[in-house]
Amino acid sequence: MWGKRADTVVHGVEPYNAEPSRTALAGRSITPLDTFYSRNHGTVPVLDPAGWRLKVDGLVDDALDLGLDELKGRFEHHTVAATLQCAGNRRAALLEVRDIPGEDPWGPGATSTARWTGVSLADVLAAAGIAHGAAHVAFEAPDRAEAASPPQTYGASIPLAKAQGAEVLLAWGMNGADLPPVHGAPVRVVVPGWIGARSVKWVQRISVLSEPSAGYFQAVAYRLMPADADYDAAPPGAGLTLGPVALSCDVLVPDDHARLAAGSHDVRGYAYAGDDRGVARVEISLDGGAGWAQAELEASEGPWCWRLWHARVDLPPGEVRISVRAWDTTGATQPATASQVWNPKGYANSSWGGVTLTVG
Ligand code: MTE
Repeated sequence: MWGKRADTVVHGVEPYNAEPSRTALAGRSITPLDTFYSRNHGTVPVLDPAGWRLKVDGLVDDALDLGLDELKGRFEHHTVAATLQCAGNRRAALLEVRDIPGEDPWGPGATSTARWTGVSLADVLAAAGIAHGAAHVAFEAPDRAEAASPPQTYGASIPLAKAQGAEVLLAWGMNGADLPPVHGAPVRVVVPGWIGARSVKWVQRISVLSEPSAGYFQAVAYRLMPADADYDAAPPGAGLTLGPVALSCDVLVPDDHARLAAGSHDVRGYAYAGDDRGVARVEISLDGGAGWAQAELEASEGPWCWRLWHARVDLPPGEVRISVRAWDTTGATQPATASQVWNPKGYANSSWGGVTLTVG
């Protein structure tokens, strides 16, 4: 479906929500289009590029109304390699702590990396001219989410300072091909380093505002609430608005619950630190965190990308838990257990990654 591999883990067909298996995601710094995860809140719109228009309005000096050819012809083209990560990545481990009704059990595959081609949002905003009082940039799309309260089209916003970063793109290309419909064709926003929810697909309106978007997906969803909060009773704006992605890492090879012979094996995975932080180190433990050995970090595709890593481990017979943790360039590392970071919607699981193996 939507051009994805046959072994894709499909959480839902309508809306379409699917992630690659651990092993499909492993070992490639750029994720192929048939492997890249997809997260949708409504029916995927299949838009005619010839009829697509982008409006730029709000607190700007001159509102813009651009077709695809004008967007491509008027602004310099850029390609940025960037990881997208859903705030719900690795929710499955949080669900083992306590149920999270209505949310999909994403494994570690709600994250993928692509080379995105488009124009800098900053250049488009500069062409419109930022007016006094501007502080946020909101994106609107035509897909309608029936599960939103009330049902509404998808939208989100980012602070103006992030929107003016050269890395934030209005992209029509993905890995050298046209953006596929399921990833937002003809044009999507790509906000490197921030939760995937802010990278609005099928964007058709950009509004410069004094406040964040008041829509459901900014003001209500994608907020980190305290573990004891009553999510449904909380007023819009309560809790922490998720922006930069929390530090995380996981094992992709061997697969979880694999059966292996005792002896020496390769372990592979990814680590990711959002926004302007980088991954400084990844460590592996075979004894529940009493001792740690460093994994080898692989070359990065750029400052906005995950770091793949690998290590050679000697697996003893029995049930073995491989635990992994990353450190970021600020010196922060990850909490040990999912219970330490459990929250009512199951976002931002920054606890140790790992797999459990049967070694015999
Ligand atoms: N944009 C629109 N218009 N509709 C959506 O449902 N989902 C968001 C974001 N942009 C979404 C959207 C979320 S939550 C994520 S994680 C990413 O798109 C997923 O992008 P992908 O499907 O290309 O992987």
